[in-house]
Order: sequence, then structure tokens, then C-alpha cells
Amino acid sequence: MIAYASRTGNVRFIVHQLELPHIEIRDDLILNEPFLLFTYTDGLGEVPQIVERFLQHNVRFCKGVIASGNSNFGHAYFCRSAHLINERYGIPIVQKIELRGFQKNYDAIIDYYNRVIQKEI
Ligand SMILES: Cc1cc2nc3c(=O)[nH]c(=O)nc-3n(C[C@H](O)[C@H](O)[C@H](O)COP(=O)(O)O)c2cc1C
Repeated sequence: MIAYASRTGNVRFIVHQLELPHIEIRDDLILNEPFLLFTYTDGLGEVPQIVERFLQHNVRFCKGVIASGNSNFGHAYFCRSAHLINERYGIPIVQKIELRGFQKNYDAIIDYYNRVIQKEI
């Protein structure tokens, strides 16, 4: 499963390209199976509030984080959401993606998913 948050559609676009099971994060969502978290980056390199709230109840089964961002925000802030989640919760960073990314990003996500998520379910 991939749990995702998307505000302007980039993450949603990518998730649909992947053709893997996915669910959009909402406030009452609890996942009881291994999943990857896919988030955008907000503010100045921040984790979106809806993702922060989701993680409070869903760290246990989260096996990796993918972030989309925009490198115009500068190296220090590009996809910093993924770094913050990694530092706070010890969740591995799978990919940092520029906006909608490229096929090589999608292939890397699918590869990680097959190795880490698929084998656990
Ligand atoms: C208000 C705002 C702040 C943003 N801040 C950052 C940032 O600090 N770092 C970054 O890498 N991207 C930043 N972005 C870019 C988004 O994370 C990026 O466009 C992402 O692809 C959006 O995903 P979505 O279309 O699924 O919402 C920001 C975008 C907006 C609108």
C-alpha cells in the first residue's frame, strides 16, 4: 500500500502511474499493513500538517518515505519533508522527486515496493 498526500496533483499523478495499491491520507486513516508514505513538501521545507497528523497514529507500519518537491526552493529545502520524517521517525528515504519526476524515479519506487512491502504481505 502507498499512503499519499497531494495538494496540487503532482503526487496523485505519480501514484496513478505506479499502478500499485494506494490510498489518500485523510484524518481518520489507520493502516494496519506495511506501506510507503508519499508526501509533498510544504512551507519552507516542512511536512504537511495532514501528514504530521497521520504519522502520529501510523508510524509502526511505515517502511519508507517518498517526497515530491521543487528544487527552486534551494538545496537545503528541496524535499526536506522526507529528511524531517527520516530524522524524527527513522523511516528510510526511498526517493526525493522533482515535481512529477521521471520514469527512473517511478522504477525505483516500484523496485523498493516489491522488495520491502510486497515481501511482507
Ligand atoms: C506553498 C508551497 C510551499 C512549498 N515549499 C516547498 C519546499 O520548501 N521545498 C520543496 O522541495 N518544495 C516545496 N514546494 C513544492 C511542492 O512540494 C511540489 O510542487 C510538489 O510536487 C507538490 O505536490 P502536490 O502537487 O502533490 O501537492 C512548495 C509548494 C507550495 C505551493
